[in-house]
Amino acid sequence: MILEVKNVTSGYDRVMIVNNVSISIDKGEIVSIIGRNGVGKSTLMKTLIGLLKTSSGEIDFDGANITKMKAHNRAKSGIGYVPQGHGIFPNLTVEENLKMGTMINSDGTQKNFEMVYDYFPRLAERKKQMAGSMSGGEQAMLSIGRVLTGNPKILLLDEPSEGVQPNIVSQMGEIVYKISSELGLTVLMVEQHMGLIQQITERAYVLDKGAIIASLSQEEVKDNQIIKQYLTV
Ligand SMILES: Nc1ncnc2c1ncn2[C@@H]1O[C@H](COP(=O)(O)OP(=O)(O)OP(=O)(O)O)[C@@H](O)[C@H]1O
Ligand SMILES: [Mg+2]
Repeated sequence: MILEVKNVTSGYDRVMIVNNVSISIDKGEIVSIIGRNGVGKSTLMKTLIGLLKTSSGEIDFDGANITKMKAHNRAKSGIGYVPQGHGIFPNLTVEENLKMGTMINSDGTQKNFEMVYDYFPRLAERKKQMAGSMSGGEQAMLSIGRVLTGNPKILLLDEPSEGVQPNIVSQMGEIVYKISSELGLTVLMVEQHMGLIQQITERAYVLDKGAIIASLSQEEVKDNQIIKQYLTV
């Protein structure tokens, strides 16, 4: 197991949002956290990366208890985080954005750049372009590429499909799937896009009002009836 979240509760000031959440992910798995708007998906992701404090419970990552570890140290220990809305620097070029990713882990920088450009040829064609002038899909790919340059062991993706044209979403899914299988990279993805969830995830947790209310197998994820019931209002 690479990530184990045990009975975690967290939130903002006195308002607890994430309520007693337990999830566990094996190395190399692609797992989704699904759920409607405002149920606490992003709050959970921010808790995992350490931007929000864990009020109770425990987070173990790669054999260590990281519950009290600061965000930058979690990133250094291999947790790559792509925030909702992609979090790229619009006024920096593609290349400069990728360089920002290596500040977390500068090992093998050149090699990692080449790897990112191989997985995302669109980025290679646009090295000198300002990130803010790229399409939603290109920005999403840049945000994933940037995290990859830091050699993560797990990729936390918060709604990567947001703002991405429908026909590009599946292309992005294919690339993420390929990266995960070729590098053995674990992926924990928050999503509401049914197509992307079904395309790449092996299992899913359903979050509602801050709590895990169901754990779905791949068969259940692929069943439109079941998945729709958890995604639609
Ligand atoms: N900075 C904040 N301070 C206080 N409350 C917040 C803050 N950010 C989010 N919340 C609240 O926490 C709850 C969960 O929000 P969160 O962003 O985690 O949901 P989500 O599932 O990611 O939603 P979405 O699908 O819209 O991205 C909401 O009620 C929201 O208003
Ligand atoms: Mg969110």
